[in-house]
Amino acid sequence: MAATKETKREQTELSEAEIAVHWKEEGYYEPSPRFIGQANLTDPDLFEKFSLDHFPECYRAFGDLLSWDKYWTTTLDTSKAPFYRWFVGGMLNASYNCIDRHLAQHKNKAAIIFQGEPESEPPVAITYQELYARVNEVAALLRDFAGLKAGDRVTIHLPMTPELPITMLACARLGVIHSVVFGGFSGEASGQRIADSASRVLIGMDGYWRSGKMVDHKPAADIAYETAKREGKPPEKVLIWKRYKDRYSSQAKLVEGRDYLIDDLLPKYRGERVAPVSLPADHPLFLMYTSGTTGKPKGIQHNLGGYLAYVTAMSKYYQDIHPTDVYWCMADIGWITGHSFIVYGPLALAATSVIYEGVPTFPDPGRTWRIAEHLDVNIFHTSPTAIRQLRKLGPDEPKKYHYRFKHMTTVGEPIEPEAWRWYYHTVGKDEAVIVDTWWQTETGGFLCSTTPALHRMKPGSAGPGVLGIHPVILDENGNEVPPGSNRAGYICIRNPWPGLMATIWGDPDRYLKTYFQKYNKNPKSTDWRDWPYLAGDGALLAPDGYFRILGRIDDVINVAGHRLGTKELESACLTVPEIAEAAVVPVADDLKGRVPEIYVALKPGITASDEIKQKVVQAIETQIGKIARPKTVWIVPDMPKTRSGKIMRRVLASISNSMPTGDTTTLANPEVVEQIRVSVQGARPAVTKEGPADIRAFGQTE
Ligand code: WT7
Repeated sequence: MAATKETKREQTELSEAEIAVHWKEEGYYEPSPRFIGQANLTDPDLFEKFSLDHFPECYRAFGDLLSWDKYWTTTLDTSKAPFYRWFVGGMLNASYNCIDRHLAQHKNKAAIIFQGEPESEPPVAITYQELYARVNEVAALLRDFAGLKAGDRVTIHLPMTPELPITMLACARLGVIHSVVFGGFSGEASGQRIADSASRVLIGMDGYWRSGKMVDHKPAADIAYETAKREGKPPEKVLIWKRYKDRYSSQAKLVEGRDYLIDDLLPKYRGERVAPVSLPADHPLFLMYTSGTTGKPKGIQHNLGGYLAYVTAMSKYYQDIHPTDVYWCMADIGWITGHSFIVYGPLALAATSVIYEGVPTFPDPGRTWRIAEHLDVNIFHTSPTAIRQLRKLGPDEPKKYHYRFKHMTTVGEPIEPEAWRWYYHTVGKDEAVIVDTWWQTETGGFLCSTTPALHRMKPGSAGPGVLGIHPVILDENGNEVPPGSNRAGYICIRNPWPGLMATIWGDPDRYLKTYFQKYNKNPKSTDWRDWPYLAGDGALLAPDGYFRILGRIDDVINVAGHRLGTKELESACLTVPEIAEAAVVPVADDLKGRVPEIYVALKPGITASDEIKQKVVQAIETQIGKIARPKTVWIVPDMPKTRSGKIMRRVLASISNSMPTGDTTTLANPEVVEQIRVSVQGARPAVTKEGPADIRAFGQTE
């Protein structure tokens, strides 16, 4: 009893809500008259139409951006809240909405422009007609060769080439649920996701270019297959695309009766047309795995009608996409940003969407701006990580190129006002409007952002809730934290919206617990007002109604704008036989925002060595991917622990970030903290700083 109380008090004391925030208010920037003159959303009255008084019927306007085979009867069904159903009774197809419906007016317009990493390869434009033909042929192959039908799952582990959106849209045409795994993830990570989704087919590629090297990608498919098989869920077939159609670019052999080269099979399906399968609005469109606080990654399930309507509206009103625009989102399609804002949103609006295969600064820091100039990109979308990297390597490069952006996005993590200003003045040439869009894999599309033609920009702040989204900051007890109080709390959304995930694949309980349990008072309620959505981020609300996002309040590390689960990384460490215990914490990094740092304790009788550290790094890279590579691996005599035996990650996080460790007297082994501090901080600056709020809050929700 006493222990519970103590833990409870400790949590409350350390909660984000209790941490005073020292934040300098930034000045505003105005959107240019030129931008306003052409913008899609210029009517401030629209916000009144999307007030909670008009919820949920206001979202009809989003549904009406799509073409329906059958119009819906109920805009929102809350009878199983918080498992919501949008546009109930409606029937549609995503591939039809992103391709077929544009053919009459835009068949000769580029849908996708692919730029390979080698600069010697000219960009390839795929018109809407060409996309139509290719998607149909691949759909025919998936249906007739692989036997796939609506509701089946397929795991797609592809790099940034046109085959990725083509495969996704072919799945969508059939109602096959795609689960795209980020190409940079390892074969093991892909295999885990195949098993969790029970995918019938894995789709991979022979190789692709990255930093001037041809990465051999087929071995990842072999590992993925073996991993899924070990989990008892091997896929039936492995289908492999070729990066170059006239040769096979991998060292790995094809396994007979299991592996097939798609490009060799396709001629059989030449000219085939597959009628888009008319599906209910709440049919699952895709799964996207993301990291949470505990256990394995969660398969976030997005349903067809709500998701597509939401990303189309966000692309139109917040990305300001018109069919005449050349739009370049530099994210990877393997993350939600790419799904929503490279593939589904832009294509639903008949835009031209640019896909770049490689590293933005390869072979030199001017590459990004050369692509923008050559293709005459006018809408640009990237992350703070990329912005910092581009700025570091080539602060004056944008000035050398004659592109002209009207609109730019930053997404994935909070952006430092300094980096924001470089983005605005140097990349945007003092002209492009910037939106800092705050959202998550789970939310399908944006939650907070300024409206580009209506709101002033403020560096470092995402802005108010987007059209229809009503955010609120709650403290530990569910009380509202008022604007301008300079206190942080948990940012929640009062209302559901069409882009919200439908559930977690195979784990509805986890959906309830993770996102709704904290503030729900009546689990039986079918009133959406009783189910505020908990995003898991700490945030502040300024007097002007702008939200400033501080970062995750749980054990998730945001590396280069993407969440990595600490538990997943720790499990990978424990596969090294010498390791007894592992703890992963975030450490602030100038370029990537946060990177993981690892503490390991060895099994008795084992001597510390660089070789063991190397093995840990290796384990992380093979089981998770290079994106998770730790900054440092520290071998420690023991982990700081509570009396109940829990590893105190927040203490380690403080040490890693040269922050004060706070009160450690209640620990079971306070003396070890001092030992670790001396060995780590011997190599680091002295403890001076308070540290970023997300790191201060890290590990407090255990
Ligand atoms: C987490 C979601 C959203 C697509 C890419 C990442 C952080 C995201 C912002 C922003 C501050 C941001 C949050 C969020 N985040 N955008 N504009 N400002 N923080 O998707 O992997 O699901 O991660 O990224 O912490 O919860 P994700």
